[in-house]
Amino acid sequence: MRVLGIETSCDETGVAIWDNTAGLLGHRIFSQTEIHATYGGVVPELASRDHIRRVGPLTEQVLADAGLNLADLDGVAATAGPGLLGALLVGLSAGKALAFGTDRPFLGIHHLEAHLLAPRLDPDPPEWPFLALLVSGGHTQLIAVEGLGRYRLLGGTVDDAAGEAFDKTAKLLGLGYPGGPAVARAAEGGNPAAVDLPRPMAGKPNLDFSFSGLKTAVLNQVKAAGDMPGPTATADLCASFQEAVVDTLWRKTARAIKQTGLDRLVVAGGVGANAQLRERFEAEAGALGVALHFPALELCTDNGAMVAYCGAQRLAGGERDGWDRTAVARWPLEALTPPPG
Ligand code: KG4
Ligand code: ZN
Repeated sequence: MRVLGIETSCDETGVAIWDNTAGLLGHRIFSQTEIHATYGGVVPELASRDHIRRVGPLTEQVLADAGLNLADLDGVAATAGPGLLGALLVGLSAGKALAFGTDRPFLGIHHLEAHLLAPRLDPDPPEWPFLALLVSGGHTQLIAVEGLGRYRLLGGTVDDAAGEAFDKTAKLLGLGYPGGPAVARAAEGGNPAAVDLPRPMAGKPNLDFSFSGLKTAVLNQVKAAGDMPGPTATADLCASFQEAVVDTLWRKTARAIKQTGLDRLVVAGGVGANAQLRERFEAEAGALGVALHFPALELCTDNGAMVAYCGAQRLAGGERDGWDRTAVARWPLEALTPPPG
């Protein structure tokens, strides 16, 4: 099964080809960061328009990279949700058109399932079952992954996602967009113990998260100082913020490991690209004897490879979508089921 995957749920146009025998045959991402940077966040209408501009040329390039023609594909998959509706519709329509034109099956993909499965593109993929911490710009969830399409939600954020907290903190401190990498950069050389920030809900026995209070705590620090912090104070504040997020994420993950007894852990989604998080999780998981899997760095944030992979697994399992398949802004992961085959 050789599948072309298209990702357009937010501000990255991603196209890739995954082959269940040969692996990843081609993969390109176009990031719209520059387009949205002046606005300090993603402007949905601009995102849709740029996906339209990019998706065709990227597809041609990926096919050329792989030395393949459309006729060499066995199917096409595109992210169908959750995400920005207009943006999703671009990739979905392009994918359906390609599938229709080549008389191949088409499948709409769940963006978060694609993130969850990204570590399975690795040469040494995690076996089922595993515990997953999904940390992106829109989601922060702990999930027991029992198999393809078998996901049990253990806990999630009650307000902001971890990536959102990074983005909002960056905006507050005037560090630019996207916030995660900007805060991580600003935190370099800062003292993570300099500012006493809360660990929201860490003491609660459940597996839920809350990050909006953390962002408010940063705001209060700025207000108390009476002025925007200078470079050293910014580094200390960012390092302390990053430490608070990573510490909170690890504490709940450790609790989930204990509760489920799972000894394999996957960290997926954009925040999984954070170096501090990777370092802390490597050390802590190692100490517990838990096998830790991160996707390759470039497959942590949005990309077409994870969509192509997910599509290949589900299409191989006999799943198909009709030409009336549409995009959905909201789509709970738990609504997914295994493919029929
Ligand atoms: O998975 P993703 O690319 O898109 C969503 O599905 O949301 O995640 C994007 C999020 C953004 O909030 C971004 O600020 C965050 O991931 N992010 C990071 C880093 N790189 C991206 N957060 C912290 N540290 C990073 N290095
Ligand atoms: Zn994503």
